[in-house]
Amino acid sequence: MAQSSRKKPNILVSGTPGTGKTTTASLLADATQLRHINVGDLVKEKNLYDGWDDEFECHIINEDLVCDELEDMMEEGGNIVDYHGCDFFPERWFDRVVVLQTDNSVLYDRLSSRGYMGTKLTNNIECEIFQVLLEEAKTCYPEDIVVAMQNDCVDDISRNVTILTEWARSWQPAT
Ligand SMILES: Nc1ncnc2c1ncn2[C@@H]1O[C@H](COP(=O)(O)OP(=O)(O)OP(=O)(O)O)[C@@H](O)[C@H]1O
Ligand SMILES: [Mg+2]
Repeated sequence: MAQSSRKKPNILVSGTPGTGKTTTASLLADATQLRHINVGDLVKEKNLYDGWDDEFECHIINEDLVCDELEDMMEEGGNIVDYHGCDFFPERWFDRVVVLQTDNSVLYDRLSSRGYMGTKLTNNIECEIFQVLLEEAKTCYPEDIVVAMQNDCVDDISRNVTILTEWARSWQPAT
């Protein structure tokens, strides 16, 4: 079951760190008046993590707590969920799953200028090269709701936001 009684669509914006999820989701929220939920920020605000992963240098999020926190909003609809993973969200939550993709050299520069280096940088670049997030999305959601979008330059963002805004406007609730 792809959708419940929600009157507005839920969109997941996924992709390797640095591919532009937050930038895109934020502009899309402005254009559509949907609610932008940055899962990373939510996890920090509400302490929805179990600890710190030394190898990957990131919080270990508690997936059950995140899903509990989001359930009511997702049921209501009208959300843009911004997260670099998608395998622990219920399939029924989303009407569209966007996977942003960025050229390796562009992503390398973005992540380096953010201070990423060593294993953390290499892991993220490999994640992008092997299209890990796109494969994950295709495994977890019906193929017809998963869409890959290139996000290298400013023109890409405008085009992607326009396409997704049009999609959101024409979305119809299940009858
Ligand atoms: N299309 C684009 N053109 C130029 N710069 C971009 C573009 N998209 C994103 N950026 C820049 O790349 C950096 C990463 O973008 P952003 O923070 O949106 O990525 P993210 O996917 O949310 O990353 P994270 O997973 O770490 O939260 C930012 O500095 C942003 O300004
Ligand atoms: Mg982000």
